[in-house]
Amino acid sequence: MSEGEFAARRVVVTGAGAGIGRAITAAFVREGAWVAAVDLVAERAAETAAIVEGPGRAFGIAGDIRASRSVDRIVEEALGHLGRIEVLVNNAAIYPNCPVLEMPDEQWDAVIETNLRGPFLMSRAAARQMVAGGIRGHIVSVASGAYKSARRGASHYCASKAGVVMLSKVLAQELAEHGIHVNVVSPGLIDVGRRGDVNPTYRETLLRNIPWGRMGRPSEIADAVLFLCSRRAEYVTGAVLDVDGGSGAGRFFLPYSRGA
Ligand SMILES: NC(=O)c1ccc[n+]([C@@H]2O[C@H](COP(=O)([O-])OP(=O)(O)OC[C@H]3O[C@@H](n4cnc5c(N)ncnc54)[C@H](O)[C@@H]3O)[C@@H](O)[C@H]2O)c1
Repeated sequence: MSEGEFAARRVVVTGAGAGIGRAITAAFVREGAWVAAVDLVAERAAETAAIVEGPGRAFGIAGDIRASRSVDRIVEEALGHLGRIEVLVNNAAIYPNCPVLEMPDEQWDAVIETNLRGPFLMSRAAARQMVAGGIRGHIVSVASGAYKSARRGASHYCASKAGVVMLSKVLAQELAEHGIHVNVVSPGLIDVGRRGDVNPTYRETLLRNIPWGRMGRPSEIADAVLFLCSRRAEYVTGAVLDVDGGSGAGRFFLPYSRGA
């Protein structure tokens, strides 16, 4: 990455109060960017803004990406801090698990609203502002291997992540004439420090399908996001970058088929 290219870059990160979003915020701030760190939970957004270390700056913003009105307010507040938006990172998402036969309407709607409607609303608002200001900006959405690989209990999550990938590809086409890049980073299993949240058998089985042999780090997702927003990725748009230690390549858990 070229020296200093993110200095004073104006960035909005959603879901910035935890895990991967916090790491993306920290990475941009380390490179000198100014980041609006948006989270549904005000204290988390504020904590991220307080703990990330410069030379850039971070501003915590409490807000819900699911509704048009609150997205307008988030963007207004971000513009108040940043003056303009040059990069949007759609990172916020939820991932409950439930078989379709037992799925309450509310859970389906919550996942689609957070993981798909939210990125749509945020991308539209940020892109309108970029186009109006003649800003050749970047939009990066954080998907998941679930965009291409089905998993029981994750009908809503898989559908939302496949949806955000297609939303990004269409946006890449529509915004190319304005010089706006739109891409996706698709993480594999990332260690966000909440091992207790996941069924251990599920995690161990997933680990067996990672050729690299370990979980990913949030900072490794951040590196991919920064790459896609850098000059080195000038000719990359409408792309999905799998950052998953090879797990998305196929069925690594299978043995060689030759021999007895
Ligand atoms: N952790 C993993 O292993 C993993 C794997 C693949 C993909 N991902 C994706 O990476 C992204 C981040 O995952 P994570 O594990 O860091 O998540 P996380 O749950 O640790 O953090 C998500 C943050 O988003 C916020 N958020 C939730 N709903 C919101 C809303 N409506 N408006 C604003 N903020 C909201 C939450 O408050 C939380 O702070 C997600 O898109 C997720 O699908 C994560």
